[in-house]
Amino acid sequence: MATENHAGLDPIETASRDEITALQVARLKSVLANAYDRVPHYRQKFEAAGVHPADFREPADLAKFPATTKEDLRQTYPFGLFALPMDRVIRLHASSGTTGKPTVVGYSRRDIETWAGLMARSIHAAGGRPGDRVHIAYGYGLFTGGLGAHYGAERLGCTVVPVSAGQTLRQVQLIQDFAPDIIMCTPSYMLNLADAFEAQGQDPARTSLRIGIFGAEPWSEPMRQEIERRCGLNAVDVYGLSEVIGPGVACECVEAKDGPVIWEDHFYPEIVDPENGTVLEDGQEGELVFTTLTKEALPLIRYRTRDLTRLLPPTARSMRRFAKITGRSDDMIILRGVNVFPSQFEELLLGDTRLAPHYQLELLRKGALDALTLKVEPRDAGGLAQGPEIARELCERVKQTIGVTSEVCLLPPGSIQRSEGKAVRVVDRRE
Ligand code: DLL
Repeated sequence: MATENHAGLDPIETASRDEITALQVARLKSVLANAYDRVPHYRQKFEAAGVHPADFREPADLAKFPATTKEDLRQTYPFGLFALPMDRVIRLHASSGTTGKPTVVGYSRRDIETWAGLMARSIHAAGGRPGDRVHIAYGYGLFTGGLGAHYGAERLGCTVVPVSAGQTLRQVQLIQDFAPDIIMCTPSYMLNLADAFEAQGQDPARTSLRIGIFGAEPWSEPMRQEIERRCGLNAVDVYGLSEVIGPGVACECVEAKDGPVIWEDHFYPEIVDPENGTVLEDGQEGELVFTTLTKEALPLIRYRTRDLTRLLPPTARSMRRFAKITGRSDDMIILRGVNVFPSQFEELLLGDTRLAPHYQLELLRKGALDALTLKVEPRDAGGLAQGPEIARELCERVKQTIGVTSEVCLLPPGSIQRSEGKAVRVVDRRE
């Protein structure tokens, strides 16, 4: 348990595990009953699985209940899983989704308050305090990033600069002029901003920024080190997904930086085998699943996030953490029978000081076989002269550490598409 001063923490953040479990059990009982009573889709699924909310007595009983997937949200598009009449839903958000219809999520007034409270708790965990100035460069709109961060920062008592995503040069100017303490954006966008500072002859490590609260996409430990080194701030991982509430489902504590702490008083986590849905023990790698414990408008029972990670024991707070997300099960590339994730390439590339931290993986079909091209850039244009040598070494390291054959393409600095939000790491050009 942390020895730090717990001023400003919600008492549940440092409560005993027994207290947390008791709260979870009481809330799980009520969320299961509520979903069954108010949402026909859940009632049908429970009945088809032969379970009733009364069958739930202790956390292990949750495994008897059917999981919810994105497909359930698609089938009931747009509002079919809502548990409240629309006149009690005060906000809608949606995730764009690469294929098909977007996933629509709804919030009651109390849900918006819960979310603001959890984002305030997250910003506090990241080291933010009332009075801090917060530059928010997550996109505003249907995406939950901008408004989620905004309400949380206001709730904590910060001064919010609601910049939203894009217009990078203007962001650089605003950071210089307004002198924010905290920035909230995707980690890939922070690197994009750092490049923009440097392009203007400014050192990104000499801004007023003290803390960066980064999430919405997977990022590796070497990426954290790169951002911290270049930008001179504490880079903290915040996690969430729109279906479950938005950002603020879990957040790292700045004093530990050892994986996001799950706000377990509001979200009950499980790790399941992504193939067959069997619940795995804490510590085993699998797919993260959440049951919302307090959401009114869109309660989710055992929602399969597709994010792969492991549950870790509590450290800085009494709640469990998870290890950095390896990737989404849908981002997994199967290359000639070997399963790989973009994050594995990221760790390798960021370890090479000759390379810039921007990359993209391109998949092609060559004859009957899949081929992978790794697009990278040297840190400075001078590095291009070493192109063939770097490419050869990198191919070898990819083969040795990740176990796949790749082609490496070293492009002039600035060639790889920069992100304003979630970086596109994989371009699949196979048929
Ligand atoms: O990305 C919510 C969010 C906004 C989180 C701002 C953090 C900061 P969605 O667009 O629904 O919501 O995407 C959710 O993004 O299932 C993960 O695959 C990925 N993701 C989010 N945070 C992290 C993170 C927002 N810290 C999906 N690490 C999730 C790794 C993350 N992946």
